[in-house]
Amino acid sequence: MQFCCCCNFLVLKPCYLYCPQIVRDTLQNDLKIMCKSSSVDLVTKTDQNVEQLIITSVKEKFPGHSFIGEESVAAGEPCVLTENPTWIIDPVDGTTNFVHGYPCVAICIGFAVNKTLEFGVVYSCIEDKMYTARKGKGAFCNGQPLQVSDQKEINQSIIATEFGSNRDPEIVDKIFSSMRKILCLPVHGIRGVGSAAINMCLVASGCVEAYYEIGIHCWDVAAAAVIVSEAGGVLMDVEGGPMDLMSRRVVAANNNIIGERIIKEIEAFSAVRDDAP
Ligand code: IPD
Repeated sequence: MQFCCCCNFLVLKPCYLYCPQIVRDTLQNDLKIMCKSSSVDLVTKTDQNVEQLIITSVKEKFPGHSFIGEESVAAGEPCVLTENPTWIIDPVDGTTNFVHGYPCVAICIGFAVNKTLEFGVVYSCIEDKMYTARKGKGAFCNGQPLQVSDQKEINQSIIATEFGSNRDPEIVDKIFSSMRKILCLPVHGIRGVGSAAINMCLVASGCVEAYYEIGIHCWDVAAAAVIVSEAGGVLMDVEGGPMDLMSRRVVAANNNIIGERIIKEIEAFSAVRDDAP
């Protein structure tokens, strides 16, 4: 596993040495599973431990920085992106996968300054794939440069999405309706690995043309957003226009043609914003 030295986030090196080991070890053992907003919104002790480890290591070096962490927010910390340098952390993206031993799980760390994402690291622990990107410096997987697909034809494309954790039948109908419309364009296929960040890294890697979802959180997508744009991709809202990190909606595509084409088929709905008071 290589660490991308062109990025100034070497401070994360200890986290990326120890946290994946914690995740991999726990997969072999008993998990302490808890529910958050609903019976399908899961969290484990590992999510909480990994987040604490990351925050503690970063705070030692940068005591003045801010943090938005999935489990800290669940515990009542504010979820507000200010101008202050801010680390946006998802300790285990794909917690449902993790709980079931489904091998797609990622540790995600994004970093923003003045509300602009500056770098992102997504470590797909089981595959041992370290995706890294820094604004203006390209995107990499285990040190190899990433480039999105150059496909412009929607009917030659693979689209990724997820069902998320909202089980309101009206919302589920909209999710199925969007998928049905996209599938029948037709596209080559629809995929979803159970981790927003890994889906986005697959867009950055060029094997999936686009990923969209409504209901994700800023920590699911912050790190991967830098990786997609540095690999040449685009980020949009599901109704067009730029992605709003706090809106819980994202389209990550290889180019505007594919992104705008799927937007036409998505039945958009709103989710309570991450930064809602
Ligand atoms: C979830 C995963 C999943 C997506 C959900 C996310 P978590 O993140 O990324 O693929 O469908 O919307 O919340 O809870 O495992 O960090």
